[in-house]
Amino acid sequence: MKEQIEKIWAEVKAFNANTADELEQFRIKLMGKNGSLTALFADFKAVPVEEKKESGRLLNELKIAVQEKIDQFKEHLSAAKGSTESSSDLSLPCQNEPAGTRHPLSLVRSEIIRIFSNIGYTVSEGPEIEDDWHNFSALNFPPEHPARDMQDTFFIEQNPDIALRTHTSSVQVRIMENNQPPIRIIAPGRVYRNEAISARAHVFFHQIEGLYIDKNVSFADLKQTLLYFAREMFSPETKIRLRPSYFPFTEPSAEMDISCNICGGSGCSMCKKTGWVEILGCGMVDPNVLENCNIDSKIYSGFAFGMGVERITNLKYQVKDLRWFSENDVRFLKQFGPVV
Ligand code: DAH
Repeated sequence: MKEQIEKIWAEVKAFNANTADELEQFRIKLMGKNGSLTALFADFKAVPVEEKKESGRLLNELKIAVQEKIDQFKEHLSAAKGSTESSSDLSLPCQNEPAGTRHPLSLVRSEIIRIFSNIGYTVSEGPEIEDDWHNFSALNFPPEHPARDMQDTFFIEQNPDIALRTHTSSVQVRIMENNQPPIRIIAPGRVYRNEAISARAHVFFHQIEGLYIDKNVSFADLKQTLLYFAREMFSPETKIRLRPSYFPFTEPSAEMDISCNICGGSGCSMCKKTGWVEILGCGMVDPNVLENCNIDSKIYSGFAFGMGVERITNLKYQVKDLRWFSENDVRFLKQFGPVV
């Protein structure tokens, strides 16, 4: 009896079925009416009493193993059948994957780039990890200058000369150091400040810098360029207002307001009832900065401006909390246009 059990064990172990038919043949061969395993169970009655216990156990183990083998192949064959059936119908329409949406900051950045490229500006970029010279010193922020306090950022302990840039004005320096006028660029990019994160402030945000250097560039050119930008970006009725301000790298300097695009200037919560909202800083490039970058300030002059992309986006879409821009919540993101 033991020998026969071992023989069937070997058969079970070696068995492999590629079709349901082969599996059925196997089942009949072992467990059918005249199957080899069925026969062993019949023979069991004749086993001597002292061997009954041991043979009974072996026989039962074998039966369980055969049944498991059959079940396993059944499952395997039906799964394989399912997958060939669904992949073989090539006439089925394809499943459209949703394409996602463009990030609102990306939409606004593209729009700003479009507006300035229409009047001959090209796009330049600079590194986010900057040195002191490009972020501060060349722009007339000497060490210990109080204006540096307004732009505290993240430094590297081992090397205080390296920091995350606080503004895209650093790109002005890099461009002027490597090119002679005429220069007409905009520089979009991410900037960093050491701020407590809230609905109104973040440790990173985005700016777009503008720089125009040539012979005889005047403040009137700056004003006209910015008026053109405001009307293209918001509406043809938009008015602008320049208020005197201070930046170390421009002289004179100004901050520009636009008539509130939400209430049209009559006063609302967005403009704090003033009818005006601030959108950028600007001015005539300080001759010291031109000289720092090897541009002759007796021959050339120019203007610069810098705006926050989040700020413009808030005005366009009234996003109430800055943090939403970087939280990747699809409920927020899918409200903006599809990718085109
Ligand atoms: N870099 C300034 C800031 O981050 C913004 C700015 C002001 C840029 C005046 C300019 C400018 O180019 O002329 O606060």
